[in-house]
Amino acid sequence: MFSKTDYAMHFNPVDYVKDWAGTDMSFYPDKLHELFTTGVIKGNTYLEYGAGPTLHSVAAISPFVNEITIAEMLPQNRRELTKWLNDDEDAISWDSYIEHLIRLDNNRDSAEDIKIAIEKRKLSIRSKVKNVIPCDALLLNPIAPMNATFDVVGSSLMLDCAAGSTYKQRLKNASALVKPGGFFVQFSNGPGCCNWKCGSVFFKVVDPQTPEDNAIALDEAGFNILQTANFELPPSFCQDGIFDCKDMFLTVCRKRY
Ligand SMILES: C[S@@+](CC[C@H](N)C(=O)[O-])C[C@H]1O[C@@H](n2cnc3c(N)ncnc32)[C@H](O)[C@@H]1O
Repeated sequence: MFSKTDYAMHFNPVDYVKDWAGTDMSFYPDKLHELFTTGVIKGNTYLEYGAGPTLHSVAAISPFVNEITIAEMLPQNRRELTKWLNDDEDAISWDSYIEHLIRLDNNRDSAEDIKIAIEKRKLSIRSKVKNVIPCDALLLNPIAPMNATFDVVGSSLMLDCAAGSTYKQRLKNASALVKPGGFFVQFSNGPGCCNWKCGSVFFKVVDPQTPEDNAIALDEAGFNILQTANFELPPSFCQDGIFDCKDMFLTVCRKRY
């Protein structure tokens, strides 16, 4: 499965979060947190580009920016995100990841302290998310009709999964969302991977990249690479058939002026 119709019909947000967004998959949001705390990247406005139904990356960066926009192609994912932002009772819970983040910042011992800190963080995230909007990676302006550029754009496991046009063109379209001098953090499926599981269905990684090919495409899209990192998935992901590849990689870039 890979077409927009396949996604619309078969991508179940709750199944996806169960399979893919546990704290053992927190490499990308943890890295975002590290990149901001160490000052490698900074900015006022942040776009989570192709969020799926996930909020862990937004939770990780929210203390460091003032305005967050979340873009996602699928209405069912945007609905899930909106449920969490509205604090609806049946929203997917991100408490365990938010607790993990708070413990990264400082080691609170008391359970009471942690509970208060989680609630405060949730309020803060909700106040900073200004928009949940549709996106389409195939468009020259992927967030049309909105017209905006951002200081920092983060995108995880999306540009290599979006079918249509070419990978290089999708990266150029993404580049149009980043301000000159701004940052782009991309988390990519590892080379050689084909399929990933969402509940009872398998979606395709349409254009898996090697880090070397990705670097060429990023350069052509106007970026200088600042850092790369490799992430080896927990063995259970392969054993349980969730993914058919062992690793993923992260690329941190800055858009040229
Ligand atoms: C593997 S999920 C990644 C979700 C999330 N970013 C994460 O890291 O868990 C793939 C995402 O690609 C999105 N997608 C697929 N085709 C797309 C397209 N043409 N434009 C934008 N997003 C697309 C899907 O809606 C889905 O959210």
